[in-house]
Amino acid sequence: MKSIELRKQFINFFKSKKHKLTPSSSIVVSDDPTLLFVNAGMNQFKDIFLGNSDPTNFRVVNSQKCLRVSGKHNDLEEVGHDTYHHTMFEMLGNWSFGDYFKKEAIYFAWEFLTKELQIPEERLCVSFFQGDVKDNLLEDDETKNIWTNIIARDKLVPGSKKDNFWEMGKIGPCGPCTEIHIDLRSDIERSKTPTQSLINKDHPEVIEIWNIVFIEFNRKEDNSLESLPNKHVDTGMGFERLCMVMQNKKSTYDTDIFLDLIEKVSNISGVNYRDKESTDIAIRVVVDHVRAIVFSISDGQFPGNNGAGYVIRRILRRAVRYGYTYLNIKEPFLYQLVPLLGNQFQSIFPEIQSQISLIQDVIKEEERAFFNTLGKGIDLINNLINSLKKSRQVIDGSNVFELYDTYGFPPDLTALILKEQGLSYNQSQFNACMEKQKNRSRSASEILLGDWIQVNDSSIDGFVGYDSYMVDDAILIKYRKIEIKGEKKFHLVFNKTPFYPQGGGQIGDSGFIYADSENSDNIDPLFVLDTKKENNIIIHVVQKMHWKLDKTPFFSTGLTLKIDINKRKLTSRNHSATHLLHHILRIVFGNHIEQRGSYVSHDYFRFDFTHYEKINNQDLIKIENEINSFIVQGIPFDEFRDLSIKEAKNMGAIALFGEKYGDLVRVVKFGDSIELCGGTHVINTSEIGIVKIVSESSIASGVRRIEVLTSLGAINFLNKISVDLEEAQTILKTSGSIIPALKKIIIKNKELIDIANNAEKNELHNLILDLEKDVKDIGDCKVLLKELDISIPNMKNICFSFIEKYDNALLALATNTGNKAIINIALSKSLVKNKNLNASHIVNQVSKHINGRGGGQPFFAVASGVSSSDFSKVFSEIENLIKGL
Ligand code: SER
Repeated sequence: MKSIELRKQFINFFKSKKHKLTPSSSIVVSDDPTLLFVNAGMNQFKDIFLGNSDPTNFRVVNSQKCLRVSGKHNDLEEVGHDTYHHTMFEMLGNWSFGDYFKKEAIYFAWEFLTKELQIPEERLCVSFFQGDVKDNLLEDDETKNIWTNIIARDKLVPGSKKDNFWEMGKIGPCGPCTEIHIDLRSDIERSKTPTQSLINKDHPEVIEIWNIVFIEFNRKEDNSLESLPNKHVDTGMGFERLCMVMQNKKSTYDTDIFLDLIEKVSNISGVNYRDKESTDIAIRVVVDHVRAIVFSISDGQFPGNNGAGYVIRRILRRAVRYGYTYLNIKEPFLYQLVPLLGNQFQSIFPEIQSQISLIQDVIKEEERAFFNTLGKGIDLINNLINSLKKSRQVIDGSNVFELYDTYGFPPDLTALILKEQGLSYNQSQFNACMEKQKNRSRSASEILLGDWIQVNDSSIDGFVGYDSYMVDDAILIKYRKIEIKGEKKFHLVFNKTPFYPQGGGQIGDSGFIYADSENSDNIDPLFVLDTKKENNIIIHVVQKMHWKLDKTPFFSTGLTLKIDINKRKLTSRNHSATHLLHHILRIVFGNHIEQRGSYVSHDYFRFDFTHYEKINNQDLIKIENEINSFIVQGIPFDEFRDLSIKEAKNMGAIALFGEKYGDLVRVVKFGDSIELCGGTHVINTSEIGIVKIVSESSIASGVRRIEVLTSLGAINFLNKISVDLEEAQTILKTSGSIIPALKKIIIKNKELIDIANNAEKNELHNLILDLEKDVKDIGDCKVLLKELDISIPNMKNICFSFIEKYDNALLALATNTGNKAIINIALSKSLVKNKNLNASHIVNQVSKHINGRGGGQPFFAVASGVSSSDFSKVFSEIENLIKGL
């Protein structure tokens, strides 16, 4: 059965059991500080599990794009070396949000595997949670009893917390799980060793295929478990593994999911899959990693220098490195695999196909840069090898670490190159450097999240800031302490708030929280320095906390929350202007313009979008003019809240790529500019005042960035230009345009430079003529030994003019500059050839007289030494050398 049909069959099965198909969320996580990438199907439902949001459907089925490359669930190092681990994979799941629980979940899974797919029961085995003393949890009897009615008792295996208690990360929703394992070995082998004894033992043919998790707890920062308000079912079945089973393969890489990719890599490299172990591993690494890279980029995460971007960069470099080292591929190649993926996932993840050329450009550019790094690294390694004393065979590990850390040059590749030369490096020195660096970055990035302390149970209405800048009856719901890089802060959550949480590119509001003066003796307000959203909850970040939050009563009564109105208004003007810019860009260039990100603050905004070339000045002026005329028309703001995505799209609203939208969305409209947006805006475009584009640049191939000032920021910018212009007019003594005066000055300046250059040339020419008289004939050589008071480039020019004129010239010219002494030695080529003379050796020999060092080529060499040197010994040694020839 083809993979595409199998996925469909899973979805249809659960649809028939009243599950609603929900799309995969973006593989990139944007609103959860504990995760960079989606590592399980349940991530997008975390809010529902925690009770922060209500589910729209109580039964859901989906196929989620997952990436396990960092944090608690990290499979990166295994990938390629075995035949079934992946970085990026699809997780098929069925979900119950407070609806059915253990019994139905288990029966559904069993029915699907054994009836729908007709997998023989005797190949299946089940594990269940055996309990844990530390967590004070008993054996999962309920699950065991359900299974006893389905399969033989001896097929039921108890499992420890490590295997049978699923946790999303260090903190978060979790619960006991029951796993279904499959045994793909031959009948003979199965009769020799029972399946049960090979469960969770990393046997490539006895593997887990389905994990059914009963989410009932929240793991807290202090490691304790808190019961969740409802009980849920979270199941995860590795799609690639299921395909392997159904296609009768021994490896996921042998399924139709990877077939075309492997063939393409073979074509590019000329290496066949299954030729030998080392190249097989490399091919598996490449075809696995390219999926991780492509899915991430298509969801908006480009390779970069930190955070999630750095993870993608590392994966890409790992793939290139395996290609380079084992498949002998010496130029960008990964990008050639993208169209295959676009095609393969067209029906389920169309975001790849629709962005093929952008994804290819980004990957190719990144590959090109890394190949450059590889080239530089190899030069550096060669220098290292050359500088080694003959007797030493082992390179200092800190050098190898420097190569890795500064140039991104992988240590295993360094080891390989060294090995070819019979060398190695000191691994423990390398490890020590690595450990030191890890400790440094660990403490620099550590976030210590305290547990929430609940002070009130009121329901949370959330954001009310579209309609007001202030509320005077807010109630503190909960708070927690947090420490980021050693800096302590407090997070506060209220039942309602006018504070806009950072999101959709717009920065969070700042402002003040006032206590009710009757209850609090006029206590000083708290300053909110930022507002963020986490798992659907609005968090007010406060640094200086002088209130006693755990002491009632003042915070339990109405608190006044008031945002910084001025900052909000400036920010809103910038946000509305991004919509106008987006709209005008599509009018001017076409609908290939797609927003790729934005940053909207009170100072300025930037807007990133897809476009294939630099925008010239004329077009920028045109865009600016169009937006300004939009502004002066005074177009009113129109908004539509709580529309379905379908209604919004029917209105012609542009949705943002990679953005996670809820079931109900808000549409923001200024005339023909219609966008899905949760941000804050002006009520009429005239409020923006004016826009001024201040820069246009490229941030990745196919992605451009425009930076813009609006309102007071733009006026200040233009005023500054006007003040500078007036000053320039005064300097240039003109009251009109400064351009003619500037042109005149530039022409005059060029004339003067030409005159000065000619004069210098003449002077040099005369000096060369003058020096002829100092040339001595020694043996059959023409020798000039002289200290001069000239520039270093001119000294070199003199040397070259003599060795070109005479075919038996030897020059030693010297000069004392302000802070050092320089000697130039030059030899005619025939002297080098016939007399076996070498300028580099000579300069080395005589540089001791000026306490210096030197080197160069056989016909021209330079030494530098201490300032105010006496060159007489240099000259006499050279003279003696010539005389002795
Ligand atoms: N959350 C579980 C897992 O990722 C089941 O979906 O394995």
